[in-house]
Amino acid sequence: MSEAVGVGGSVTLEELERDPYPIYARLRDEEPVSWVESVGLWLVTRWDDVQTVDKDSAAFTGETEPSTLNRTFGKNLLGSEGAYHDRVKAIIHPWFRTGAIGHFPGEVIGPLVRELIAGFSERGEVDLVAQLAEPLSVRVLRRATGLEEVDDDTLRRWFAGLAEGAANFEGDPAKQELADATSRDVDERTAPILDRLAREPDDTLLSSMIHTRVDGEGLSRAEIQANLKVMIVGGLQAVSDAIAITVWALLSHPEQAALVRADPELAAPAVEEALRWHSPVGTSTRQTTAETELAGVALPAGALIAAVLASANRDPRHWDRPDAYVLDRPRRPHLAFAAGPHVCVGSLLARFEARTALQELLGALGGLRLDPARPPVFTGWEFRSPQHLHLLFDPA
Ligand code: HEM
Repeated sequence: MSEAVGVGGSVTLEELERDPYPIYARLRDEEPVSWVESVGLWLVTRWDDVQTVDKDSAAFTGETEPSTLNRTFGKNLLGSEGAYHDRVKAIIHPWFRTGAIGHFPGEVIGPLVRELIAGFSERGEVDLVAQLAEPLSVRVLRRATGLEEVDDDTLRRWFAGLAEGAANFEGDPAKQELADATSRDVDERTAPILDRLAREPDDTLLSSMIHTRVDGEGLSRAEIQANLKVMIVGGLQAVSDAIAITVWALLSHPEQAALVRADPELAAPAVEEALRWHSPVGTSTRQTTAETELAGVALPAGALIAAVLASANRDPRHWDRPDAYVLDRPRRPHLAFAAGPHVCVGSLLARFEARTALQELLGALGGLRLDPARPPVFTGWEFRSPQHLHLLFDPA
């Protein structure tokens, strides 16, 4: 392809995975809509253009062809557009609003965080990913959805199998077989839970999905299960990463951490700034529905696009000092949860988890700091996070 001669033609997957930010900076300046041969995608890196891709779903559709998401989960929110998408979102969204989950920080997330902290508070050190962020994301998702009968390891296995299918762009039959088997397992295990919730409604997300009607319409069982799978894939790793990134970002700036310790309300801006600075979900994937021009570049019909949220969140055309972590910067919306019709439905729950974890950690563990001997290693570009976050503190 002739486009491969530009900056994008020289970008390697290895460089992107190691540290995409210098590449994004160069692309924003020199080639803001760029064919990157090594990943088979057009990368869109400036704030304004990323907004356009996310918001103009008639030109840039999430219903890609083929769709690894729809193939593995069944038709779902992220892989659909238009009236179908809007109907499903209108039914699912109410459960995620403050009115329905406003009690989660105090009644659900806080107790779970304190229980996890009690498991390591005497040791003076912790790998926060393994011992808090990841298990918290699993347990909150279970409580939120209503999958009480499903244990932690089964949820983890479901995440791994489904994620393998979602990322199977190469169509590897072995990966698809695992993903399909996982998908069937989710359907079989949730069928009796859905039967029970149909008879006995409760305050969980699955119950809400069964009973909510908008303009007289509800969701079919297949629609509920397909969207549950998106939530399992979207609501575990990204939340765990968001917690680890927030704690790391703040503890890397001890003077700003002291402010949050003194005023726990500052946990909210601390989380927002961390998600802007190091967005755990790096891209929105879309496909052009027709030949389209974006930032002066002619895109063919059917072109696969990665609107790079993580780059838009560092665009100096939109942000002052974009590469710095600034707790008290003037608040403006960032794109870590995307924008437009596919804006993350779970963003409030995710924010509650990250804020509560941060507040509880700072409140419970004196002298909490990064372990200088074991700094975190960030990897990835579509999903970017550290696998471990080693912290030290004064033992209880
Ligand atoms: C910090 C944690 C999270 C981050 C960074 C995140 C990020 C995102 C992003 C960027 C999108 C849009 C993707 C696109 O444009 O292609 C999205 C969509 C979505 N997210 Fe999240 N997410 C998080 C947590 C959650 C949670 C906790 C849930 C549910 C339990 C969830 C469920 C969903 C769903 C269902 C969609 C599809 C919405 C639609 O297509 O209308 N996410 N998320």
